[in-house]
This record gives sequence, structure tokens and C-alpha cells, in this order.
Amino acid sequence: MNLREEFPFACGIGIGIPEPGTGGKQWIKVLERKCSMVTETGSLKRAVIDQLTPYVPGKSIEEVRRELGLSRIIKLASNENPLGPSPRAVQAMVKELQEVHVYPNGKDRQLREAIADRCGLKPEMVIFSNGEDNILTLITQAFLETGEESVVASITFHAYTTATIIAGGRVCPVPLKDYTHDLEAMLEAINEKTKLVFICNPNNPTGTMVTKGQADWFMERVGDEVLVIFDEAYGEYADRDQYPDAVRYVKEGRNVLVLRTFSKLFGLAGVRVGYALGKPDLIRALAAVREPFAVDRIGQAGALAVLEDEEYIRRSKEVNRDGKEFLYRELDRMGLSYVPTQANFILVDTGKKAELVHEAMQREGVIIRPAHHWGLKTKIRVTIGTREQNQWFISALQKVLARV
Ligand SMILES: Cc1ncc(COP(=O)(O)O)c(C=O)c1O
Repeated sequence: MNLREEFPFACGIGIGIPEPGTGGKQWIKVLERKCSMVTETGSLKRAVIDQLTPYVPGKSIEEVRRELGLSRIIKLASNENPLGPSPRAVQAMVKELQEVHVYPNGKDRQLREAIADRCGLKPEMVIFSNGEDNILTLITQAFLETGEESVVASITFHAYTTATIIAGGRVCPVPLKDYTHDLEAMLEAINEKTKLVFICNPNNPTGTMVTKGQADWFMERVGDEVLVIFDEAYGEYADRDQYPDAVRYVKEGRNVLVLRTFSKLFGLAGVRVGYALGKPDLIRALAAVREPFAVDRIGQAGALAVLEDEEYIRRSKEVNRDGKEFLYRELDRMGLSYVPTQANFILVDTGKKAELVHEAMQREGVIIRPAHHWGLKTKIRVTIGTREQNQWFISALQKVLARV
């Protein structure tokens, strides 16, 4: 018998010497036992794992190119900066390649100091990690006891739910009101089991904003037995006059964490740099569960450089503002409704099944995010692109809606 062919899944675990006189049968029994262990590994995993719906990222440009054989493809599905990275960040990252044999430590301090300086905080009130996604995991690991609850909007960024469940917590979803966080209802949802409250501002996938007045109202009423997390991944795009000053709550010593990322406006999604701002004891708790070298050298070098690239930051905001106006105009002309956005994406109601629109758009070379996963059956979320990308999106959408 050829072991590898007969039991390809068992190779390497059941190999042994046949019992003398059994013609190898004994040995096959051992293998069967091992094989059944392999097929029953479900019993080894924690019960909460079955509650998780794995994150399904949108297809990459390479995947779509391979599957559909298209030469021209744009991705407007993950809210990345359509301008590409800052040239200064690229230069700094390339230079840093010479140092990659050394663990990344020193720049973490530089980066924390740079952010602390900009926010008027002390460096010990800042922690960086491998993207904001990872900071969310650190938060639930550091603060959530088994059975404790996270209050989240329904619908919002999926990662709050995933991180809560993995930590053995429970999620308390509070429906949005007019596509925006309903802070009154979220306040009411807090009970003796609540530990975390997540406010995604602007909210993904709706693009709506909790205003300064609403956030202040909420913070005046919420007790310090819960930790309030303001996720400001898209905060730089929001209307500054109305936008809450969540860092002020940190300065006031409240139990608040403010989360930000270099993946969106700062154009560094591929190197995974995110951070949290909070009072020192909260940050120390996050540091206790974080792996030692959570942000690599390349990411740190890129982040430090892009912070200095004021022209890139200005231009990125400008492209987003112009793109938003263009898309609003075109969507109005097409008679499609959308949720006015404070971010770098727009939730558009196509009036057709989102998954069909998504597939047909992909065949036109435009990757967008269908919103049926969030229960929004006819809506899509599209990242605001460059002028050329937005034009392409609109003409593809017109074609697709005429036929699906
Ligand atoms: C609201 C929100 N928070 C956090 C993240 C994750 O950011 P990062 O790329 O830093 O992990 C995203 C990414 O799409 C997001 O939309």
C-alpha cells in the first residue's frame, strides 16, 4: 500500500512499524485512529470559534485579473488612498530596507512621540500595533472578561464583533438611526455586564458621523465602569467643525480609547500601522497583551515620513472632496440615492441586488463592496477614487444597472 496515496491527510502522523504477524493490520488500525482524530479536530477548538463568520475580503486586482482576464481594473472596495503612497514614505521605507536584519524598536518611540506631540498627549498615552484591526484584538484581550458585553452599532465595522467573540464576550447590537449611531439607545443598552462601547466615527459602511454635540451628550452620561472606544479610522476626512474632539476625553482622564490608522488617508494600508490614544494605565494594559515587535520597521519608517508630507495629506483630502462632489452629482443625475458621507466611501442604493451588481461591475473591471453582508440588499459601498476612477465607476454602473 502506498501510504501517501491512501492516506494523504494522515502522512507524517501515523507512520509506524507493522505489528509482527498482523500483515500490517494492526498498523492500519493505528492509522485509522489517527485519521479519525484528524477528522474530529472540531472537538479541540473553543466553542466560540463556531460563532465567527470569517472576514471575506474583497477580491484583489490580481485575482480579478486572473479570473476574468481583464487588463484594466480598479479597486474601490477597501477605502484605500487612491493616490497611492506618499513618495516621501516610499523613499523612507526603501531606505529602511537596509536595516531589516535588526528588530524594530527605536522608531516606535519616535513615532509615539510624533503622534503624542500632534495630539498634545504624553508618549505613554500612545500605543502602535499591526493595524487598527490588531488594536481591536488587544482591547478585547486586555479588558473583556468572559461573558462581558460590547455595545456596538448595527450595522458597523465587523471587527468589533469578531474581537469580542474571540475574547469570550457577547455582543449587544444597537440598530442605527438614520444610518447613524443612536447614542441614546446605546446608552440605554449599557447594563452591568457591559465593558466596552464601540463608536465608529465616521461609521463604516454608512459614512455617517456622530457629531461633537452628540458625543459630548453621551460622554456626560456614560459611567466610567465602561470603556468607550472611538474608532476614528476615517476621522481625517470628516467635517472638522462638527467632529468630536475625542482626544479631549482622554486628556480629561476618561475611560476612552481613540483609535486611528495609517491605512486610509495616509496611504499605508499594506504595511499595517494603527494606534490607540488613551490614559497611561489603559495603554499599559494594551501593551501587556501586545507582542513585542508589533509594528515592523518598514511601517514605522513610512508612517513617520508621511506625517511630514503635508502636500500629500492636503492633496489626498482635496481628491476626496472633489471626488465626493463629482459622485454626488452623477448619482443625483442617475436618480440613485446614497447616504451623504463624512468618509472616503459612499453607500449607494442601486435598487438592484447588490451581489449581482457587484459581479457585473467586476466584469467591467471595477471592484466595489456589495453591502448585502450587512443586510443592505440593494446597496453597494464604493471608495471615492481619483477623477478618472470615479468617471469609470459611474460609466460602468450605468452599463450594469441597464442590464442586471
Ligand atoms: C472603521 C475601521 N476601523 C479600523 C479599520 C482597520 O484599519 P487597519 O487597516 O489599521 O487595520 C478599518 C479598515 O477598513 C475600518 O474601516
